[in-house]
Amino acid sequence: MAVDLLLGLQWGDEGKGKIVDVLTSKYNIIARFQGGPNAGHTLVFNGKKHVLHTIPSGIFHEDAINLVGNGVVIDPVIFKKELDKLDEQNVDYKKTLFISRKAHIILPTHRLLDAASEASKGKAKIGSTLKGIGPTYMDKTGRNGIRVGDLELADWKDKYRALADKHEAMIEFYNVELEYNLKELETEFFEAVSVLKSLKLIDSEEYIFQAQKENKTILAEGAQGSLLDIDFGTYPFVTSSNTTAAGACTGLGVAPNQIKDVFGIFKAYTTRVGSGPFPTELFDENGETMARVGHEFGATTGRPRRCGWLDLVALKYACQVNGVTQLMMMKADVLSGFETLKVCTAYNYQGDTITHLPYNIEEENVTPVYTDFKGWKADLTEMFEASQLPAELNDYIAFLEKELEIPITIVSVGPDRKQTIFR
Ligand code: GDP
Ligand code: IMO
Ligand code: MG
Repeated sequence: MAVDLLLGLQWGDEGKGKIVDVLTSKYNIIARFQGGPNAGHTLVFNGKKHVLHTIPSGIFHEDAINLVGNGVVIDPVIFKKELDKLDEQNVDYKKTLFISRKAHIILPTHRLLDAASEASKGKAKIGSTLKGIGPTYMDKTGRNGIRVGDLELADWKDKYRALADKHEAMIEFYNVELEYNLKELETEFFEAVSVLKSLKLIDSEEYIFQAQKENKTILAEGAQGSLLDIDFGTYPFVTSSNTTAAGACTGLGVAPNQIKDVFGIFKAYTTRVGSGPFPTELFDENGETMARVGHEFGATTGRPRRCGWLDLVALKYACQVNGVTQLMMMKADVLSGFETLKVCTAYNYQGDTITHLPYNIEEENVTPVYTDFKGWKADLTEMFEASQLPAELNDYIAFLEKELEIPITIVSVGPDRKQTIFR
């Protein structure tokens, strides 16, 4: 069977976790393909909220296999905390949670390096989640990393020591104030590593290959969003992995011709957490309303998310790069009550009006051109059928479908699993 992909089309936090959970009953395997604990994927069901960072969002379905792919970077300490939370909920993951031997490990010193690097940048900082993502992927591409499979080898602690010592020397080089007690961090780390080692460590590309041959259904779960992609995002204000569709091929070992549907998730407006350009960002009451009604705080760091109107130029770009076949629009309920809604349909850029994403979208280069839409008053959170949606929202949806030439197959009207309208 072919593999379907689900990924974010904006700057992350589109609601990927919720939709993966909603769709899991249709799949045998849910596989995360990139990122690490910088992600925070929120699921709400039976009146309870769950936040996952590294573990795929299908974990609450007992029949589904949840695979952490080779493209993911794993912090054993955070992973263990996630497992502890699952234990509290009596989720039996022992037989259903698989981890790729080729996934890289985030060391305590990777986290410290992240902090040192950000501190040294001052105002130019990326606004990283400080989970050690950048330094870990740097060691991966620099061919110095430690992989999950290494943990099964006798000499892995020697490798660990050599790398951690090197990191300490690098931290010195940054010459910033950073207080830490590596011994304490290492105690916690080694304990967590032994928990990680007790899980099912597999050669995941072979597993995925065989699963396809056996006609198993597979959904690949992305983290972050397309505008945070290391190649196609708003570099350097991005994360350190390929968050776009191609990342699923390298992050799981799936051949490009095996990918079928690409589900692109976007919020009905736009948010961003951390630094970097954001052409449609609002600094007025409208932005504050989105933040308040949408509870726009990072699921990993708790930082307030920046809010703004929907940016169709950026969204189109993300659809192109990913080959999106179906769109899913999230948080439509948050827009209820706005008199007028705006969608950015072009940019004024160096004296021209353009409809593609240029190399540089810094504030001084780009001014959004907006199309206005009439808002709606109705509360959407109690609606369960497409036929109940207000006419103004249908106009908004129809406009986006026409411009993007891709159907919007899900409209999400609240954080709960049940608040999902299929079209
Ligand atoms: P992810 O990283 O893409 O999985 O998204 P996050 O979990 O970081 O952020 C999405 C936030 O919006 C979470 O708090 C979700 O519970 C919430 N959410 C998801 N869908 C909806 C929706 O349709 N309406 C509202 N109001 N909240 C939603
Ligand atoms: P999910 O999967 C939103 C942002 C950070 C920062 C930049 C680099 O929940 O959508 P990093 O820690 O990777 O070095 O941070 O990327 N970022 C996210 N923003 N959602 C995420 O994940 C993010 N993961 C990283 O805020 O700007
Ligand atoms: Mg998130």
